[in-house]
Amino acid sequence: MHIRILGSAAGGRFPQWNCGCGNCTAVRKSLREHKFSSKARTQAQLALSADGFTWFLAGASPDLASQIESCPDLHPRALHNTPRDSPVAGVVLGSADLDHVLGLLLLRELQPLRVYAAPSILRILREENSMFGMLNRVEPQVVWTSMNSGAPFPLLSADGKDCGLRCEVCYLSGRYPEYVKSANLARDEATAALFFEFASGKRVAYIPTVGSLSDTLIEKIRHVDLLLFDGTFWSDDELLRVQGSGENARQMGHIPVEESLRLLKGIEVGRKMFIHLNNTNPILNEASPEHQAVRQAGWEVAEDNWQLEL
Ligand code: MLT
Ligand code: MN
Ligand code: ZN
Repeated sequence: MHIRILGSAAGGRFPQWNCGCGNCTAVRKSLREHKFSSKARTQAQLALSADGFTWFLAGASPDLASQIESCPDLHPRALHNTPRDSPVAGVVLGSADLDHVLGLLLLRELQPLRVYAAPSILRILREENSMFGMLNRVEPQVVWTSMNSGAPFPLLSADGKDCGLRCEVCYLSGRYPEYVKSANLARDEATAALFFEFASGKRVAYIPTVGSLSDTLIEKIRHVDLLLFDGTFWSDDELLRVQGSGENARQMGHIPVEESLRLLKGIEVGRKMFIHLNNTNPILNEASPEHQAVRQAGWEVAEDNWQLEL
């Protein structure tokens, strides 16, 4: 049961770790003064494997090429029956956000892949955005598979091989990205909490984008062995204060960390981490009271290149 955190930052704004804003400056100063390790972050990306040989990606970030390069488990390899093989068998998409889907285009030269997504997200990518046609220009290539909420389903490679990992999707009320033009998309499929389950029964919840915490979602999270949760913003008006205008965190579909800490206080899970961290979030500064509050509540702040074994 292998999990790799390949990227831990939120998407959208470049660069994610060293702009000149007050928070980034404070992070750099604290890194220098406290000799914390370097914390450059790429956009949120997860890889999971039951056997360490065949891997599934959760999302496909725009940083995927360098993320694969820095993770030897995912390097291309030669096998006895094929000189060109990739350990990546498929991708599970939890939203159509650009920081979650652009990396699919970087996988166009790979062996056939299976991509799981909500029916509406398949429609957005395949019917509305012709560029994704590059993933279906030869046969066989990407096998698009719609996933519905409810029962867990086995993750299969493009040729139908069971990879020893099951996924359960729990759709959250959210919104589609601004680039989406299609009308009549099922509103509740815009974002999903993804639950991965190994044969041992160990479970991982990956929820990088969630605007509010319903009782149903809290119940689903309870008892997972690893929780990777939306850590985009500490407070609701954090980005508004830096930019002077725009939306607050909840409007963007991100529950503030200070509220999640309250609502998930004492929840019985194995390890719990914040991920999809925006560079405005003061928890990135290990010398900050917000970082201390998160750590004291038993949470970790995810970093790139963390290798977790369950
Ligand atoms: C989000 O998580 O809110 C989006 O990914 C932001 C963006 O990249 O536009
Ligand atoms: Mn995002
Ligand atoms: Zn900054």
